[in-house]
Amino acid sequence: MNISPLQIGNLAIPFPVCLAPMSGYTKRPFRVICRRYHCGLVFTEVTNANAIARRAKRTMHFLESAPEERPIAAHIYGANADSLAGAAEVIESLGTFDLIDINCGCPVPKITRKGAGVVLMRDPEKLRDILQAVSSAVSIPVTVKTRTGISQNQCNISEVAHAVEEGGASAIFLHARVADAEHSGPVDLDMLKRIKQERTIPIIGNGGISEPEHASHMLRETGVDGVMVGQAAIGNPWIFDAIHCHLTGRSYRPPSSDERYGVIVEHLHQLHELIELGERSRKRKRTRGNPELAACRRFRAHLVKYLSGIPGWRHGWSEPMEARTVDGTLAAVRAALGARPE
Ligand SMILES: Cc1cc2nc3c(=O)[nH]c(=O)nc-3n(C[C@H](O)[C@H](O)[C@H](O)COP(=O)(O)O)c2cc1C
Repeated sequence: MNISPLQIGNLAIPFPVCLAPMSGYTKRPFRVICRRYHCGLVFTEVTNANAIARRAKRTMHFLESAPEERPIAAHIYGANADSLAGAAEVIESLGTFDLIDINCGCPVPKITRKGAGVVLMRDPEKLRDILQAVSSAVSIPVTVKTRTGISQNQCNISEVAHAVEEGGASAIFLHARVADAEHSGPVDLDMLKRIKQERTIPIIGNGGISEPEHASHMLRETGVDGVMVGQAAIGNPWIFDAIHCHLTGRSYRPPSSDERYGVIVEHLHQLHELIELGERSRKRKRTRGNPELAACRRFRAHLVKYLSGIPGWRHGWSEPMEARTVDGTLAAVRAALGARPE
């Protein structure tokens, strides 16, 4: 397939396959690993614009990134043009981000209660004003991640995308499901195709890509400029490599056990370090100040996916999921990897 770089404003992304923002998952260690395996663009976890505009210390911690992650988008939420523009200025001043992405598709109450996330789809004019304020506040590209609608009866992405383009956004990341469907179920390729035809800014399609063939299918059937992978990357950062091979006509070699183990070690150690640094400024009651335990617990959602990718993995095997220390977790993973049938 003929693959073009993804051009978002002044930013050229050589390989047009991105990692979707996922709260609780897309922290720095995982983003670094995905970038290494041909992921073209990563996003921070969703971060509160009001708090960024105030440079709240705890929130600024979410915006820490590593040079090897670039290009990276700061993914933010808010409902007020001034605070979103203020946050954008702060983000640009850090000098570590390549674009600013506004969340316009998240249905979780923590965000919608504030009039942000998918609620912004209800008022395309307000969204246009927000985009105008934010894109005139910064020189890096501003984008929007959104949905096809709030529900099947409220599919207004056509008006929303028009307003977003009018407001000066440089691209739209379009999760082709309505917000009511959350993160599963059929993906509306017809709508992706329609929005791509209606708009001139790049459209990046998202939803349901769990195999390399799904990526080529979405690109071919809809004409979108790039694609974005979410859940299928959890525990499988190699999916970007697999998609890269598939789209460029090369043969793909899945990770060996050693490589898989190496990535697990790196991911868990880096997560532990990140949480330790973060907890110096936030006293977390739930872990009673034990960042190692917090890291092991947070890592379990990744680990179960890393392990389920191994042929012959026994799903009932619980030791790696119950360990309370980094060394204990890794020892249990080694035992499991060594003991599994080849
Ligand atoms: C656990 C989880 C957290 C997510 N958090 C966000 C988020 O903070 N912002 C956002 O725009 N989308 C979020 N999403 C949606 C994903 O970015 C993506 O649009 C969705 O998972 C569809 O892609 P997929 O079918 O490839 O997983 C989240 C999805 C999951 C599963």
